[in-house]
Amino acid sequence: MSEEKYLQLNNGLKMPIVGYGTWMASEEEITFAVNEALKVGYRHIDTAPVYLNEKAIGNILKEWLSEGKINRSDIFVTTKLPPPADRLDLVELTLRKSLEDLQLDYVDLYLIHTPFTVVLDEKGEFKRYEDGSIVVDPRTDHAAIWKEMEGLVAKGLIKSIGISNFNLKQIKKLMEHCTIQPAVLQIEHHIYLQQPELIDYCKSVGIAITAYSPLGSKGVGALNKMVGVERELPDLFDVPEVKKFAEKYNKSPAQVLLRWIVQKGISVIPKSTNAKRMRENKDIFDFELSPKEIEQLNKLDANVRIVDFAFFKGVDKHPEFPF
Ligand code: A2P
Repeated sequence: MSEEKYLQLNNGLKMPIVGYGTWMASEEEITFAVNEALKVGYRHIDTAPVYLNEKAIGNILKEWLSEGKINRSDIFVTTKLPPPADRLDLVELTLRKSLEDLQLDYVDLYLIHTPFTVVLDEKGEFKRYEDGSIVVDPRTDHAAIWKEMEGLVAKGLIKSIGISNFNLKQIKKLMEHCTIQPAVLQIEHHIYLQQPELIDYCKSVGIAITAYSPLGSKGVGALNKMVGVERELPDLFDVPEVKKFAEKYNKSPAQVLLRWIVQKGISVIPKSTNAKRMRENKDIFDFELSPKEIEQLNKLDANVRIVDFAFFKGVDKHPEFPF
């Protein structure tokens, strides 16, 4: 197993470049998987309240920390402000609930999960129009939410703050109003959705990028089906160039997909609940794609968004969509 590699954030803190993603893993799966991920050597764990697994992760972290198997400073934990909590009165409360569930005194990184706000009904469920689409509040004041998050850094509850799923226009606007610059932008990023303009801008102003769905998140198909959306998702493992490089370097297609991202200085958070694949996804530092091979993979960009929020039916009516 290779030694830990980091990205240095704009506040001087270090984030392990390969993290462990936990989206679409149930509480039960995650209890096994996070324990296994820590055993395999992952020290960066990415979660969110909407993944419904913070409590299970918290239990495992507690076990590892209290038994002295890891120190708090050895792990980097990210969680997120969920779409219904993009409201000034909810930011601190929501973070504190995450901290309680994770059984931590602080998180290393707190992201605004989406640039859109989902409105809840009296029962605390997503408010919906008659056709089933969700009610989205387009008036979210990102600058005001950000100020709240800055306050939580000052209180010691968060080490670094960032954003997720924001588009270029939204980031530039936020940059005009922030005191603490976003440390990280987390976005969908893989060979078929590269967003070079967005990434170049972030790099130019010192915002680190974390790539979610680096392997193509096949599980999104099931989420889409639940809301009646039938859509064929691309299979990134089956792309000829990816297979060719995998064969050349005696690596798996997944390792080539991850190596291509990491070699560009971007962090990845692949999700797997299988111990062998978890190990594989971390073992990507003993080979190097040549500049020509990187370029060949760059050329595959097709602007194909897998996480298009179809499972949040109605979000496309937001005036700033797509994110
Ligand atoms: P599994 O959990 O059974 O390993 P993403 O990180 O892009 O969301 O992709 C996660 C999906 O990719 C999951 O379905 C996961 O399945 C699968 N996966 C993760 N790592 C690998 C790997 N090394 N090889 C093949 N499939 C993988």
